[in-house]
Amino acid sequence: MRFLLTGGAGCIGSHAGVALLNAGHEVVVLDNYINSSPEALRRVEKITGKHVTVYEGDCCNEADLDRVLDNEPVDAAVHFAGLKAVGESVRIPLDYYRNNLDSTIALCKRLAAHGIKRIVFSSSATVYGDQQPPMREDMPLGVCSCPYAWTKWMNEQILRDAVVADPEWSVVLLRYFNPVGAHESGLIGEDPSGIPNNLMPFICQTAAGMREKLFLFGNDYPTPDGTCIRDYIHVMDLAEGHVKALEYAIEHTGVETFNLGTGEGYSVYQVVNTFETVNNLQLNKETVARRPGDLPVSYADAAKAQRVLGWHARRSLEDMCRDAWHWQKLNPRGYRQEEDL
Ligand code: NAD
Ligand code: UD1
Repeated sequence: MRFLLTGGAGCIGSHAGVALLNAGHEVVVLDNYINSSPEALRRVEKITGKHVTVYEGDCCNEADLDRVLDNEPVDAAVHFAGLKAVGESVRIPLDYYRNNLDSTIALCKRLAAHGIKRIVFSSSATVYGDQQPPMREDMPLGVCSCPYAWTKWMNEQILRDAVVADPEWSVVLLRYFNPVGAHESGLIGEDPSGIPNNLMPFICQTAAGMREKLFLFGNDYPTPDGTCIRDYIHVMDLAEGHVKALEYAIEHTGVETFNLGTGEGYSVYQVVNTFETVNNLQLNKETVARRPGDLPVSYADAAKAQRVLGWHARRSLEDMCRDAWHWQKLNPRGYRQEEDL
């Protein structure tokens, strides 16, 4: 099969590209590199020994989409393209709504015009809001905490409405929990621009000496060690979930939602301790006040993906910490070369 990956040069898209190519599929990428580098796709080719067809363009632009779809017959699309920084979405909400909603609408319109009515969408556990975990797909959606989260919530609704209007559509909504780690080769991984917001890249940059100290936000939560609990999932497990989701989309119509998580929660202290132990290092760290907006506990009920897709996460927290550090050590500046700086 042949799949279009919008945002395929990004962190999750590049890992999914590897998983799809390794499963014998072909991939076509459309990316405007607003938050990524074409180097990621060269490395996907290096890891797999297979070709990636690449188009530079904006997924909000129907002409750019037509340029791809006129030339590349595909069986389905995975819509990774989007802006994802929570804090930035509070500062520039209109840019988030425009990019994250327009891209989905334009993509669906042009896919349908080319007779391709199958899409897998990158949603997020953030749509559950502040509910009692484990988060189940059939829970009512929660109240979102920021414009980024609302874009995921609204995209889910847009795609559900598209199926109501045209039952030939096949829509798979994937709610990712906390993707971390990197491909085991260390060739591709997370490449945040600026100061990382998320825990694992901040840990890695602190270990690498790029950040002086890791701040741990709050140890007075109602959890066993007082720190927040999350469902961290290895990005290659997440990537492999896309292979199963696409195979499902090919065989079914209608809309289906799946959590992609491990079903297990780890605390901030557990993540930090595991990172130090498996990588045999000590982080300069300090526990400080809570970060506003953080949920005490979030983890998936992962049973539906196992039951329906036959997928479950296989890699451990140790694997996540080892692979994240391996990528960081090999690529201290991410995909940027010294001469680019
Ligand atoms: P990323 O920023 O690494 O990748 C997104 C890619 O989309 C980038 O390559 C970027 O250049 C591209 N892009 C953005 N807008 C575009 C547009 N209009 N046209 C073409 N390309 C565009 O992010 P990621 O971590 O790989 O996330 C992929 C998707 O998964 C996003 O939709 C994100 O919101 C969602 N998601 C991510 C997480 C996470 O923790 N990483 C969690 C839940 C959901
Ligand atoms: C954050 C976003 C969420 C998004 C998710 C995945 C917020 C409030 N939430 O969630 O919308 O879907 O990322 O991209 O930003 N931590 C530290 N020190 C750090 C960084 C994080 O202690 O330097 C803690 C946090 O307080 C949290 C845990 O580590 O308890 C995980 O944080 P993070 O990686 O940002 O993920 P989420 O909070 O789940």
